[in-house]
Amino acid sequence: MRISLEEAASKLKRGEVVAIPTETVYGLAADAKNDAALQQIFATKQRPADHPLIVHIADISQVNDWAAAFPETAVKLAQAFWPGALTLVLPAKNHVSKIVRGGEPTIALRVPNHPVALALLQQSGLCVAAPSANLFTQLSPTTAAHVETSLGENMPVLDGGACSVGIESTIVSVAADGAWQLLRPGMISEADIARVAGTFQQANLVKNQTPKAPGQHALHYSPRTPLQLFKDKFTLIKACEALTQANLTCAALLIGAGDRPNCIVTQLSNQPAEVAEQLYSALHDLDTLKVDRLLLELPPNTPIWAAVLDRLSRAGG
Ligand code: TXA
Ligand code: MG
Repeated sequence: MRISLEEAASKLKRGEVVAIPTETVYGLAADAKNDAALQQIFATKQRPADHPLIVHIADISQVNDWAAAFPETAVKLAQAFWPGALTLVLPAKNHVSKIVRGGEPTIALRVPNHPVALALLQQSGLCVAAPSANLFTQLSPTTAAHVETSLGENMPVLDGGACSVGIESTIVSVAADGAWQLLRPGMISEADIARVAGTFQQANLVKNQTPKAPGQHALHYSPRTPLQLFKDKFTLIKACEALTQANLTCAALLIGAGDRPNCIVTQLSNQPAEVAEQLYSALHDLDTLKVDRLLLELPPNTPIWAAVLDRLSRAGG
């Protein structure tokens, strides 16, 4: 059900959940200071309670409402990348609800770079917690129609068009002493982060600590159709031939030009930003074909493809 900006703002103020556009993926939003509203996010998504939420804020001045420390490294990152597809995980103030942070001592914050999301934050005066607006472990939505397919026609959706980044934000945790760590790859690359934040402290940290981003399950971002991942087109084409011989149907997602299998094919470009933008839409579309098997080509294992490779690998479990 599509709603206006004004309706979305008043629903949020009444403690209801609404789906909102961001530049990465659509989010299932609720007032981040209203525990009952936050509980509805978890219930709607069927998401485990120990998976913390990202709080979306209107601008950098609101960080201090949530974070107990805003170290220089994090300030630099926020200034360089906000509004944008970067989430900062910072030590949380004591008063911050345990529900929004999934019991963690930290809080995840992001200023989204989407005119509709920013207008909503400004008009409502709220900070909104918003995980991706899909059922737990399913594909993330990048259009209002995707949200309705996953969460039902009755879910109120603020339609802001198709998401331009297309995959979830890069998540970086920054400790009170400024040491940083990449928790989830995104289209803002680890090299982009290191250029602003430096590398020395991160190297020290990695030795003592494994990255922790609760909710980063191996099986995530998954279509419902069983799927197989391939490192090259040649083995994918062979797999298609074998399935066809066994009287099974398949469809393929290819990255870049080259040989094609003899089945329905979606071919994405060889540019990481374009592939990211179209990735979930392509997977949603392939999923509706109801074939026996999806055959997905993985991009090269190089830094510029890290985020796309991460999402495709998780889709495969
Ligand atoms: O692009 C995005 O980040 C989208 C849009 C809607 O902003 N949101 C999103 O939310 O991807 P979600 O819930 O699907 O993923 C948020 C992830 C969690 O799974 C968890 O790994 C991490 O953020 N996270 C949140 N709070 C955290 C915390 N305090 N410590 C560590 N990781 C945290
Ligand atoms: Mg998600």
